[in-house]
Amino acid sequence: MTTAIDYVSRIPNNVNLAEDKRLQRALEQWQPGFLRWWQDLGPVGTGDLEVYLRTAVGVDTGGWAHWGHVKMPDYRWGIFLEPQQADRRIAFGVHKGEPAWQQVPGEHRATLRRLIVTQGDTEPASVEQQRHLGQTCPSLYDLRNLFQVNVEEGRHLWAMVYLLHAYFGRDGREEAEAMLERHSGDPDKPRLLGAFNERTPDWLSFFMFTFFTDRDGKYQLASLAESGFDPLARSCRFMLTEEAHHMFVGETGVGRVIQRACEIMREHRTDDVRRFGGIDLPTLQKYLNFHFTVSLDLFGQELSTNAANYYTLGLKGRYQEEKIADDHVLEDASYPVTTCEDGRIVMREAAALTALNERLRDDYIKDCQRGVDRWNKIIEANGIDVKLALPHRAFHRAIGSLSTLHVDPRGRPVPAEEWMRRQYEWLPSPEDEAYVASLMVAVTEPGKFANWIAPPSKGIDNKPQDFEYVRRAAH
Ligand SMILES: [Fe+2]
Ligand SMILES: [Fe+2]
Repeated sequence: MTTAIDYVSRIPNNVNLAEDKRLQRALEQWQPGFLRWWQDLGPVGTGDLEVYLRTAVGVDTGGWAHWGHVKMPDYRWGIFLEPQQADRRIAFGVHKGEPAWQQVPGEHRATLRRLIVTQGDTEPASVEQQRHLGQTCPSLYDLRNLFQVNVEEGRHLWAMVYLLHAYFGRDGREEAEAMLERHSGDPDKPRLLGAFNERTPDWLSFFMFTFFTDRDGKYQLASLAESGFDPLARSCRFMLTEEAHHMFVGETGVGRVIQRACEIMREHRTDDVRRFGGIDLPTLQKYLNFHFTVSLDLFGQELSTNAANYYTLGLKGRYQEEKIADDHVLEDASYPVTTCEDGRIVMREAAALTALNERLRDDYIKDCQRGVDRWNKIIEANGIDVKLALPHRAFHRAIGSLSTLHVDPRGRPVPAEEWMRRQYEWLPSPEDEAYVASLMVAVTEPGKFANWIAPPSKGIDNKPQDFEYVRRAAH
């Protein structure tokens, strides 16, 4: 027996769901599976918790941040697209200057579907990766932030599923089902991309993940936000507003771990931060090395004909396409690419079209560097003479021509044997991971923080430090 649910009000939306019976039915059929998935593979043991969450009920400034305590299974996962711009034109590729498509062009159907599925698959994957973290939260403030990220990744799945249901007919519906069938780390049905099958075992990894891997998401979304397929572009634009919060959680999370390490170093006049229960800067550097390089791989091969085709066909643009001053067709343009030749790292001019992945990776690296600079300011403000740094892009790669090399974090080639022997100078060792894991003990008293992380400078939604961001529901 099914209970009648008012989906139109349960699913806040600006896509006229009330008027589209066919779409409504499709989403009604998909939703119970989504809730079952959330129950089974979403955050562990949280059915009973009320979480102070931001819910989007509209895309305007007043609508997208409604605050209140909600039980997560009751979170209203909505469907929002940025409002349609009158007469939006495709900004690049062979269709440049033509009106953006409001329907899927038949010849691009399979390709667009694959782009949407690849993006969509990462959203529930990260929820699955992070599902155990709530049990070891360093504070209620952090616990809330984790859950906010989780429900919004759930909403991002909804955003992609909406597109599949609304524009891709039967195969779209099948793809939407498959999103709930693949699972992170599942040996038989893994998630599509490597980094999304890794565990997120501890909160340091979570903060690094939201800084580095959600930032990959930002760059992917930003290039899809340029798509000639207008509903995809408008979906991604709204997702980007939420994504900013995820990266905020990552950047401030790591920043607070750094701050705490520095406090311990100053207070005890020592580098032995672990002795006082903090996470030392060398360990932070290793986690940074790992998460940065795994995220670099997500951009794909340096040279890619797929990337060239996506661009030429008007499906996926460059980061901030419309702000770039060139012809937006790139037929004759070239772009410098760092690649591997005869075991050496070299810079080569390549056709700009095939080098689009590399260009996006470059934009991403610059953005990461700005964050690392801000972290270094925290260290500097504490009067400590240490700097964190992004490793060389050829270090610890698994995808692309650079993956054939063994280099140290500065990009100097080392023999394979030496690399194996020294890898734990550069990447988290089992001992480092065990140490970080040993710190993961839940702190759930309002206003209290685990010893390894400093409190935030200000509360979410300007709430006081001891605000009860997460509480047990009264029965
Ligand atoms: Fe997302
Ligand atoms: Fe995200």
